[in-house]
Amino acid sequence: MSTRTYRISPSILAADFAKLGDELREVIAAGADWIHFDVMDNHYVPNLSFGPMVCEALRKHAVRADGAKVPIDVHLMVQPVDVLAVAFAKAGADHILFHPEASLHVDRTLQLIRAEGCSAGLVFNPAASLEVLDWTIDQLDVILVMSVNPGFGGQSFIPGALKKIEKIRRLIEASGRDIRLEVDGGIKADNIRAVADAGADTFVAGSAIFGQPDYKAVIDAMRAQLAR
Ligand code: DX5
Ligand code: ZN
Repeated sequence: MSTRTYRISPSILAADFAKLGDELREVIAAGADWIHFDVMDNHYVPNLSFGPMVCEALRKHAVRADGAKVPIDVHLMVQPVDVLAVAFAKAGADHILFHPEASLHVDRTLQLIRAEGCSAGLVFNPAASLEVLDWTIDQLDVILVMSVNPGFGGQSFIPGALKKIEKIRRLIEASGRDIRLEVDGGIKADNIRAVADAGADTFVAGSAIFGQPDYKAVIDAMRAQLAR
């Protein structure tokens, strides 16, 4: 059994938008570690979701029964990045992740996010090169691997992501830094173990959790796989 601490980050893109606050509380009671917040701008990706005002409204619902804060993991699929990154920090986001090719000045964007007191992360699409990590890994708290093309929930896991996860795990180990390796897209109880074996420690799941009536049963099944 691995000694790694695993995190499950349900994507509220697949939740019922008519009752997002209740959905947050329900999925946190079911065992969510983080809340994944997918921001789409109909420019960087061909879809439109929600902005910083919705994040701000949801911040007070992202708490456990004992009052402890649950981190809001903001995945920006937007271009340009900087103005929205700062707006989300001010709206209560805890982690702010962006796609490096969407920012003209990646180093500056990372500095902006960190100056706001948030954890910073880069996101890699299925065909994206990892070269930027050579120059940024010292500033990262999270690296997110896309295992689908960004823009929509409910797509199938692209198996090529496993090789990328393995490669990034080696880079993280070589850096000696405490960086979360998160994977996003098509994660379910029946593939989460393989994704963890490749080196991931944090898992986004949207349709697999919110598409089922019993969120706890799904999260428990995922954790049972991770505990094997
Ligand atoms: C895709 C989003 C994902 C997506 C995951 O652009 O970044 O977070 O909502 O959804 P599932 O788990 O349904 O693939
Ligand atoms: Zn996402």
